[in-house]
Amino acid sequence: MKQQLASGLVMEYDDAGQGRVVVLLHGFPFDRAMWRPQVEALRDSYRLLVPDLRGFGGTGGAGERPTLEQMADDVAELLDALRITEPVVLGGLSMGGYITLAFARKHAPRLRGLILADTRAEADTDEAKANRDKLIAFARDHSGREVLDQMLPKLLGDATRASRPELAAELRRLAAGQSVRGIIAALQAMRDRPDARPVLPGIAVPALVLVGEQDALTPPAAAATLAAGIPAAKLVTILAAGHMANLEQPEPFNDALRAFLRTLP
Ligand code: MLT
Repeated sequence: MKQQLASGLVMEYDDAGQGRVVVLLHGFPFDRAMWRPQVEALRDSYRLLVPDLRGFGGTGGAGERPTLEQMADDVAELLDALRITEPVVLGGLSMGGYITLAFARKHAPRLRGLILADTRAEADTDEAKANRDKLIAFARDHSGREVLDQMLPKLLGDATRASRPELAAELRRLAAGQSVRGIIAALQAMRDRPDARPVLPGIAVPALVLVGEQDALTPPAAAATLAAGIPAAKLVTILAAGHMANLEQPEPFNDALRAFLRTLP
């Protein structure tokens, strides 16, 4: 589906199922298709709203240079456009998690709960910023698939690489569909994002923090920092998964989501 937001941005999204609203934000450099196993598992009980973030998938704005905060505002505007006024559960994986934290800072009253998967609160270190700049330079004359190939060694856990070689191919296909301009803009936005640790103690809703046991990009220690900082957080480690825990081990990931969603008032 497509919706024009108040800002003029045309956002593409899936809207599946009925019930309490659960919004899921994808990671980099993918689009909403990465949440398919969760949409299929939860749509019987919840209304899943799964957008392509600015510059990705079918959403416009690839020529712009948004901040992660602006990408969070886009999500708030999507809720406005769909006239969803009740608080929602908002979740994100990795870059989607950074945007979820930006949303929690700016739009706290719109939240019923948070899901933070394979993500972190800390800003980029100087070394991480330098690596972003290298990848930005690389992306200027390479495709989305080639950008993904640079990340692939750290993206999937060892167990997944051995047992599910088709998943790497699926991720390459998803990345190949993304525009280079959107990729560069997101890398800049992630590089420049602020430290979200000061936001954590003020999060007043329950949070589920999920991390793949073998996540090399946002490792279990980063998830522990998130869970320790948020007053009502539960930390779940997904065994035999890396950074793409929702795709590598969808069943335990979905079980954790269901258990969390059931606890919410
Ligand atoms: C992601 O998975 O969204 C990105 O790898 C996050 C990052 O590079 O910080």
